[in-house]
Amino acid sequence: MTTPAPTLNTLQPELTFTPRDRWAGELRETDADKTVTLNGWVAVNRDLGGLVFIELRDRSGYFQLVADPQKNPDAHRVMSALKTEDVISVTGTVSLRSPETQNSKLPTGAIEMFPSSVTLLNRSKTPPFALDWAGPNREHPDAEVNEGMRLKYRFLDLRRPSMYANFLLRHNIAQATRRFLNENGFLEVETPVLIKATPEGARDYLVPSRVTAGACYALPQSPQLFKQILMMSGFERYYQVARCFRDEDLRADRQPEFTQIDLEMAFVRQPEVMALVEGLVDAIFAEAGIQIKTPLRQMDWSEAMNLYGCDKPDLRFDLPLADLTDTFANSAFATFKAAVEAGGVVKALCVPGGANFSRKELDDLQGIAKSFGAKGMAYILYSAEEGPKSPILKFLSEQEQTEIQTKTGAKPGDAVFFMADKFNLTCDVMGRIRLHFGKTLKLIDESRHELLWVVNFPMFERILDESGAPVGLAANHHPFTSPMPEDVELLTSETPEKARSLAYDLVYNGTEIGGGSVRIHRPDVQRQILTLLGIDEATAQSQFGFLLEALEYGAPPHAGLALGLDRLVALLAGADSIREVIAFPKNNRAECPLSEAPTAPTEAQLAELHMRWQLPAPPVATKP
Ligand code: AMO
Ligand code: AMP
Repeated sequence: MTTPAPTLNTLQPELTFTPRDRWAGELRETDADKTVTLNGWVAVNRDLGGLVFIELRDRSGYFQLVADPQKNPDAHRVMSALKTEDVISVTGTVSLRSPETQNSKLPTGAIEMFPSSVTLLNRSKTPPFALDWAGPNREHPDAEVNEGMRLKYRFLDLRRPSMYANFLLRHNIAQATRRFLNENGFLEVETPVLIKATPEGARDYLVPSRVTAGACYALPQSPQLFKQILMMSGFERYYQVARCFRDEDLRADRQPEFTQIDLEMAFVRQPEVMALVEGLVDAIFAEAGIQIKTPLRQMDWSEAMNLYGCDKPDLRFDLPLADLTDTFANSAFATFKAAVEAGGVVKALCVPGGANFSRKELDDLQGIAKSFGAKGMAYILYSAEEGPKSPILKFLSEQEQTEIQTKTGAKPGDAVFFMADKFNLTCDVMGRIRLHFGKTLKLIDESRHELLWVVNFPMFERILDESGAPVGLAANHHPFTSPMPEDVELLTSETPEKARSLAYDLVYNGTEIGGGSVRIHRPDVQRQILTLLGIDEATAQSQFGFLLEALEYGAPPHAGLALGLDRLVALLAGADSIREVIAFPKNNRAECPLSEAPTAPTEAQLAELHMRWQLPAPPVATKP
């Protein structure tokens, strides 16, 4: 009597199996006639009237298995009963596909296997979404899967080879980093995670202490203070692939916990650190097959702001801003004149071909500018046939009109957009409008890799109250950043905000991928800066007295930098968000959809931590 063919319900997983001897995605035509064992998952299964096709997936890619009731009946019996995400082991001989059945989209598309044996190792429930909807080697006709589902079922989502490729790149970059820094005399040192707050400007995550009632640790926003202490300890060259924690509002390139390649060097100046980092960045980009040219370009912060409206300019396209503040200082156009009189600026952007924008496009642009915080966005269209056209033209003198054209380089067919307001707001809005045109007019050359240093940052930012009046200074980088030696005198002047610092940011294609500075190594200068920042002695002592104390015992000159590893990998992997290169990221509510953290503590935990939970009181019903 023959045994009946197994069905979906009767096929039972085996406990023993043969481990693979090859990766499925690495097989090629040259492997034809070889007998191999593969282990993996059923990615796709199709029953084409007798012939059963299965694409087996492992982390390396996909490989086609075929079962024919005549040719390999044992395999056919098992394969007919398999479903997607079942786990299998197969053994058989690799064969060439006939030319008309080859799939040029898959690296393994010229070969297949009629397995002689197929072993089921585990069954899978029906996955909540189709796993193989994306990936470099696959067609993906399905709509994109909702990210919430991907994060909740991250174990399935990470099974896709395109995700594995992101983590392979991340791994290779981390290894290249360690290799490069090890070869350059750096020591990898771990710094604590339960610490006193490090002032990097974001909100801290706090961890209550059980042992010390009423006290909390903070999680590090960066290892900044400890790496400086290590320089004072004479370690000379330190690095760490460091976890950092910042309780900020989340975006595509921001996570509450992220990773920095953090480094610090003693007895170096700014040029030495920058040269070292360029070597590191060169090694990192090489892992993504990108060759960069060093030394990297350096741009003054003020040039970046004035020409590109931000401190992280995307140089893959041109479209610089023009400054028309002087042009409008005495203008009959009251809006602009008033903005200049109030100490503001007028900036303009010449958009090639913009004269053809429709009424609707111009209106939409007003809306976009307003959503960025602008009061309005004036424009002149330089029609090739009819000359300049604009609602504000009647207010402009001939000289103003000529200057606009010379300063913006506007030609017939172009449009010029204007904004007048405070310097920071105008730069910010115009910088974003520039990026908007870069994207919508497809001006960005995606094949370019534009890396640059932004240098000569202002030391401080003015803190303004609600009415816009200045109430104090905040550190632009962090309070341990050295002023430029030639600007030290400004610190005691009426205008300390004019002082520049020895800070430097590394920018890649319009994203800040790293930041660092020369640090203050003299206690007197550190005290002076803290005073300017309005941090009194008692506060300084209680927050980072240990650093101030260490500065008193022969602190060497030192400088360093941190690269945002997640951002770097995401950019080099071509991912839209850093969540694509973080194994278990948080969603934009800072929750982990997989584990469902954060959760409420139990009463017992609270008692142990000497804490009481104070939830918001329910609204009190008011009587009519
Ligand atoms: P900074 O605050 O500029 O400098 O951080 C360095 C780099 O870290 C990355 N980064 C982030 N990445 C993901 N999510 C976040 N929330 C996030 N915040 C920052 C950015 C940034 O360029 N201690 C100093 C470094 C130093 O001076 O040595 C620091 O942390 O790519
Ligand atoms: P108004 O004088 O308010 O009628 O504005 C005339 C034009 O100037 C309109 O196109 C406004 O969008 C624009 N506008 C108003 N305020 C500003 C500003 N601060 N910067 C640039 N354009 C502005």
